[in-house]
Amino acid sequence: NTIGVIFDLDGVIVDTAKYHYLAWKKLADALGFEFTEANNELLKGVSRVRSLEILLGIGKVTVSETEKQKMLISKNEDYLGYITKMNANEILPGAEKLLNTLDALGIHYVLGSASKNAELILKQVNLYHRFYGIVDGNDVSKAKPDPEVFLIGAKKLNLSPEKCIVFEDAIAGVEAANIAGMTSVGIGDKETLKAADFNFNNLTEIPEDFFSKFSI
Ligand code: BG6
Ligand code: MG
Repeated sequence: NTIGVIFDLDGVIVDTAKYHYLAWKKLADALGFEFTEANNELLKGVSRVRSLEILLGIGKVTVSETEKQKMLISKNEDYLGYITKMNANEILPGAEKLLNTLDALGIHYVLGSASKNAELILKQVNLYHRFYGIVDGNDVSKAKPDPEVFLIGAKKLNLSPEKCIVFEDAIAGVEAANIAGMTSVGIGDKETLKAADFNFNNLTEIPEDFFSKFSI
């Protein structure tokens, strides 16, 4: 096929953004500062380590490297507590239908996620086997908005970046797709994701013929 799709995971395929938020909020509570859902937008799409740095910045808290490592471990333990209970009911509306459409069109799709838990999550919701390839937080050294994760995805698809369409819910992810020279589709608040080439509130809004505007 001449085009391919790269999916972000958290907040696009599955509703894990709320679990990340709860786990980070627990840490912020313990450190004694407020961490709002608006603050949380800044952490979306961003690597675990970078998320912690942003969080500590919001709380104006300085901690040692050892402390940071402990925080990363305990945040992930809390997060794992949520995701190990996940099942296919937590696949976001419209996601499976979209994958079915792509399958029918013969368009390959890969995952392009910042998460080191991506494989576990996809297996929990029984979608792992459907992806043509997986690129996640274990494969990259530079976090979104660096385009690395999506450029590796394009390689897996064996396509040049301009033939790739990226579905993203995060500001950092839309930016990464744009920097990579790919078509960016923002899933979520249009104002927040105004840098995207296309915007939809959720995957159910994607028109049946969406992919026909790209040369197949
Ligand atoms: C991204 C999420 O997909 O993965 C971020 O949007 C998260 O919020 C990042 O920090 C890293 O995830 P994990 O599972 O490796 O901690
Ligand atoms: Mg996301």
